[in-house]
Amino acid sequence: MGRVEGKVALVTGGGSGLGAADCEALAREGAVVVVTDVKLEPALAVADRIGNGALAMALDVADEAQWIAVMQEIEARFGRLDVLVNNAGVVLSADVEETSLEQFRWVSAIMTDGVFLGCKHAIPLMNKGSGGSIVNMSSTGALLGYPIFFAYSAAKGAVRAMTKSVAVMCQEKGYKIRCNSVHPGSIETPMVQTAEGRPGQTREIPEGVLPPGTAGHPKDVAALVLYLASDESRFITGAEMVIDNGVTIRPF
Ligand SMILES: NC(=O)c1ccc[n+]([C@@H]2O[C@H](COP(=O)([O-])OP(=O)(O)OC[C@H]3O[C@@H](n4cnc5c(N)ncnc54)[C@H](O)[C@@H]3O)[C@@H](O)[C@H]2O)c1
Repeated sequence: MGRVEGKVALVTGGGSGLGAADCEALAREGAVVVVTDVKLEPALAVADRIGNGALAMALDVADEAQWIAVMQEIEARFGRLDVLVNNAGVVLSADVEETSLEQFRWVSAIMTDGVFLGCKHAIPLMNKGSGGSIVNMSSTGALLGYPIFFAYSAAKGAVRAMTKSVAVMCQEKGYKIRCNSVHPGSIETPMVQTAEGRPGQTREIPEGVLPPGTAGHPKDVAALVLYLASDESRFITGAEMVIDNGVTIRPF
């Protein structure tokens, strides 16, 4: 049996990077994955590649009407939702002095509103089935605050706090829904390539234990997301799962 056999999983921002790797891992372990992205074409390509009944849908996570439509479609097709991975994100390289209010609101709309809306609209559908697992993609930026990614760090801090609120609310209301945040350090994806000024140039990530300073591979994060999505992690909720090869605990 696969580790998430028979589950229905929705991944946002599933057309690229970490989201695509999450979709792949979930499908490999038996989930039917709804691959969503603001860009439909890459989502279609991922759904096609991973198989296992995966389907692609356009979803701009900042748009509540689209969340409602996607949830209605999933309910009509499957009658349940077991896993939500709130992964979609954007990065803005600007410190607090350089960030305009408009830019701050753009980043917040995608990463704060997007996670809020995902949790809000997934919970009722998860409750129609046998509960579920929500995995919110945060960042080490939520724990450290990155000066050059000011709006990004602020949004990721909100994701960390929303996760804990959702986790406790679900317990208090007797819902069988867990909610955890994932905090990756630098992982080799198109987002990082662009932020580092080398769009489209993928660095090879070696196998085995990595030395500090080396970026991780998307499959490293996908392995953690898969664990949190599965029932193996049934005793974990409201947790902040740091996956950064020790970066945030180094004294210098
Ligand atoms: N790569 C890293 O080092 C790293 C580290 C920590 C956290 N993260 C987080 O992981 C998540 C995925 O990042 P990635 O590195 O894979 O980036 P990526 O740029 O490769 O992928 C992001 C995906 O989100 C989609 N997206 C953007 N705006 C959207 C919207 N409004 N609605 C729906 N989808 C939208 C994009 O189309 C893209 O497919 C993000 O939340 C990011 O902040 C990444």
